[in-house]
Amino acid sequence: MNVEAKISLGRPAVLDVARIREDFPILRQKIRGKPLVFLDSAASAQKPRAVIEAMREAMETQYANVHRGLHWMSERTTDAYEAAREAVAALINANDAHEVVFTRNITESLNLMAHSYGRGILKPGQAVLISGMEHHSNIVPWQLLRDERGIELRVVPVTDSGELDMDAFETLIADGKVGLVSMTHMSNVLGTYTPVERIVRMAHAHGAKVLFDGAQAVVHRRVDVQALGCDFYAFTGHKLYGPTGIGVLWGRRELLDAMPPFLGGGEMISSVAFERSTWADVPHKFEAGTPPILEGIGLKAAIDYVQQIGYDAIAAHETALVDHALARLGTIEGVHILGRAQDRGGVVSFALDRAHAHDVATLLDRQGIAVRAGNHCAEPLMHRFGLDSTTRASFAIYTSHDEIDFLADSLARVREFFK
Ligand code: ALA
Repeated sequence: MNVEAKISLGRPAVLDVARIREDFPILRQKIRGKPLVFLDSAASAQKPRAVIEAMREAMETQYANVHRGLHWMSERTTDAYEAAREAVAALINANDAHEVVFTRNITESLNLMAHSYGRGILKPGQAVLISGMEHHSNIVPWQLLRDERGIELRVVPVTDSGELDMDAFETLIADGKVGLVSMTHMSNVLGTYTPVERIVRMAHAHGAKVLFDGAQAVVHRRVDVQALGCDFYAFTGHKLYGPTGIGVLWGRRELLDAMPPFLGGGEMISSVAFERSTWADVPHKFEAGTPPILEGIGLKAAIDYVQQIGYDAIAAHETALVDHALARLGTIEGVHILGRAQDRGGVVSFALDRAHAHDVATLLDRQGIAVRAGNHCAEPLMHRFGLDSTTRASFAIYTSHDEIDFLADSLARVREFFK
């Protein structure tokens, strides 16, 4: 039986994966004559027809620049774009859509924070606390800040099981100098979910604000910023089945109000004179230039799509896939899975004895399996585990158990090749 046929049979699943796959036209492709087995969704997820159609329809029927024109087309497009902000606010349970800032991607959201919160609110002598499992985008902006402003950068170490060392966390924050904790909600390499509520409690007890990088987590779990109690939360559209080119920074209103602008230009001002300009209210203060209009419309369609499926089913599906992948890959001799956190999400990274990750990925690609190989933009984490690269399979709502079986069978054959 070929993989496509096996996939369509599905399993007794919490999600009707076969039905969901019909919504993703790209998954019908054959790669080198084999059905595409797309296990690289943590890098960027595929798009359902609802997203593709929403963007196409906007371009064909309703498109103009937003917030500027008084004409019918601009007003309609502005409404559609602002509806995306409302959708994000509802998705994460923000108090108010004005707390939702649109950016280009999560990297820009984190850079906005480093520029605006880092340079405008933090003071030299204060510290930013990150962790050893951060993506480069949650390391480098803070290094730039440290080097320019004398703000210390502290790093919570990662344990052998791939979790945060919370004793070290407590020690690193105890002197009250940490002004901001900026950490991932779910590692893009280990799959580890960080103990977000505990992090918030400990940070707030020591006077620090908390920013979470939700790039991976928001794809698999319901995020409620009120329940988390955090101060800022960032994620990106393209991993959540939406388009590239749109990211989100949510922040509590009073904190965003106090922060200076990030980029200057049109739209972010209240008035401009050569002597002095004044700023628009949030969120527009942080949104200089023509925004990602079509991408906003696409993001709203993606959020509607995800909400329709529901996070209970999505999270249960993720857990089942991860359990299955750990069981299948974990028993292949010579395969070493990185990270053994109790609470883990839909990515599995592994090293194979005597084989470079790039070679593993290349051989899997010959079977139509798309995985990511490299350092996953987390070089310090790789070094923590004595590696320079891993192969990573990552899962989505359209991933089936049969695809994981096919990965495991193919990996066992790759293993034979390198024996
Ligand atoms: N951050 C993305 C990943 O983990 C690109 O692949």
